Amino acid sequence: MIFETVATGGCRSYVIGCEDTCAAALIDPELSQIDRYIALAARDGLRIRYLVDTHTHADHFSATQQLGRELAVPVVMHSASPAPFVDLRLQGGELLVVGRLRLQALHTPGHTRDSMCLCVEDRVFTGDTLLIGGTGRTDLPSGDAGALYESLFEGVLRLDPALKVYPAHEYQGRSHSSIGQELAENPRLQKSDRGAFIEMMQNLNLTMPTHVTEALRTNMTGGKTVAQMLSEAAATVPFMSLGELKACLEFRRDDLIVLDVRERDAFEEGHIPGARLLPRGQLELRVNQELTDPTKRILAYCEFGRVSTLATATLRQMGFQRAVALDGGMKAWREADYAVKAGKEP
Ligand SMILES: [Fe+2]
Repeated sequence: MIFETVATGGCRSYVIGCEDTCAAALIDPELSQIDRYIALAARDGLRIRYLVDTHTHADHFSATQQLGRELAVPVVMHSASPAPFVDLRLQGGELLVVGRLRLQALHTPGHTRDSMCLCVEDRVFTGDTLLIGGTGRTDLPSGDAGALYESLFEGVLRLDPALKVYPAHEYQGRSHSSIGQELAENPRLQKSDRGAFIEMMQNLNLTMPTHVTEALRTNMTGGKTVAQMLSEAAATVPFMSLGELKACLEFRRDDLIVLDVRERDAFEEGHIPGARLLPRGQLELRVNQELTDPTKRILAYCEFGRVSTLATATLRQMGFQRAVALDGGMKAWREADYAVKAGKEP
C-alpha cells in the first residue's frame, strides 16, 4: 500500500494507492491543494482512480468535483449525499476496488446524514464520524446525535481495535490513532449510554465554522466558491499596475478609457481624474450606450480590485479585447498618494 497524508490547517486528505497496479483513491481532497494531490500521485507513480468525500463538508471546500472534471475520474460519496455531481453513490457495505485494494464503505450517519467511513486493510478513514480524542459535531445541517451514537457504538467502535484511525480533521498534528485507543481514551466515548451521549452532544455549544454557508452551498450543489469565480476571471484578464496607470494618464490619456465600476456615491467621493462612471451592476445594460468603440483600450477599477476583475472579464467576453483591470484599487491609489478628484462626472 502506498499512503500519503496531506494536512491543510486542521483538514486531512489521504492518497491511498495499490503498489502492484499503481491505482489510487484520493479521500477528502480540499480545493486549495489540487496541484499538490496531482503532484504527489505523480511522484509516487500513482494514477488517481476515485475521488472520495466521506461526507458533505461544512467547513472547507471539497475539490472532488473540480478534480473529477480535470482527471476524468468518478466522484464517490454515500448514496445519501445531496451533491448532484456525484458519479458513484455507495451503500454501506459496498466495496470500491482500487487495484488490489478494497475500500469498504460503512454508512455512519450522525455528523451528517451522508457520512461514511472507509475500511482498507489495517486502517479506517473515519471522516468526521470519529476524530482523535473527539467526534464530529452534530449541530450542523443533517446532523443527528442519536444517529451518531448508533454509528459509533454499533458500528465503528465494533471494528477491530487494532485498526488505525485516520480522521478528516486533526488539529494537534497527530498522524493517527486506533479504534482501541479511542475506546479507551476518547472523552466523548466514555458515556456509552445513548441518552447521556445525546445530551452531551447537544450541549457542546460550538461556534459555527467559518465559511459554513459557502462550503455547504458549493459542496452540496457543485456551485463555485467566490474565490473560484475571482480566480477564473483573473485568469482571463491582464492587469495594469498603479504606476503604469499614473504614467498613462500623464502622457497618453486619450488612448485609455478609465472606467470606475463602483457605485455613484463612491465615485463622487473621490475617483481617478478623468475616469468615467459605469457601475458593475449596470455594465451589461449600459455598455452599448457608454462604450461604443470595442477597439478602445479600457481600464476598469473598483475599490479593492476584485469587482473590477469581474467587470474586465465581462468586458472581454463582450468583445472589448483590450480591456484591462487595475492591479489594486482606489484604496491602493489613495494610499499611494496619487491624484484624486471628487464630485460628479463632467
Ligand atoms: Fe465535516
